[in-house]
Amino acid sequence: MFISFEGIDGSGKSTQAKRCVQALRELGRDVVLTREPGGAEGAEEIRNLLLTGDPDRWSAETEILLFTAARRDHLEKTIQPNLDKNAVVVTDRFADSTRVYQGATRGDLRTHVDVLHREMIGIDPDLTLVFDMDPKVALQRGLARSSGEDRFEDFGLAFQQKLRDGFLALTNDFADRCVVIDASGSQDQVFERMWSVVKDRLQ
Ligand code: TYD
Repeated sequence: MFISFEGIDGSGKSTQAKRCVQALRELGRDVVLTREPGGAEGAEEIRNLLLTGDPDRWSAETEILLFTAARRDHLEKTIQPNLDKNAVVVTDRFADSTRVYQGATRGDLRTHVDVLHREMIGIDPDLTLVFDMDPKVALQRGLARSSGEDRFEDFGLAFQQKLRDGFLALTNDFADRCVVIDASGSQDQVFERMWSVVKDRLQ
């Protein structure tokens, strides 16, 4: 089983991905937690290029190529080998992030994203959890963390609002695998919402 966690910056999905993995391990499952961009040695090097520096360091087109290159490495070295061993793979972001961040926010580049995805990646998760919340609140959380990897958060609130709309539109396009999780409230409340969906799908 291949599960992705998606959402705008600061939506709390990374915390919930960790908790999901913990809960799956408690059920005795073999689970791997990974993330994008990154999740393999080469892909982590590309991550560094993408997430640091000026917001206008790369055009959206260049980003599509770099994110897809990182994803291909991640797929070859981490995702596919673990799926082949029947492990559950949980990833903090996957191709839906490219569809939305690069495909839907700065010009309509979705066709490029889809062509590259089809040619170079070719798989989508069995289940995608989309963490949805008010971008104003999410942005405050995200920037408060100040990780040094804030290039996308530095695009500002209007950008985050476009991202939110993009993710919600995506869940309609891929209704069979995408579930929207209300990411407002306490960590425990969000966990309960997320876990009830994952548990259901496991059966
Ligand atoms: P990350 O540290 O994962 O941020 P967060 O914890 O908020 O998820 O940083 C990933 C950043 O890269 C995030 O701002 C989203 C962006 N991104 C894209 O623009 N396209 C992509 O394909 C991926 C995977 C991430």
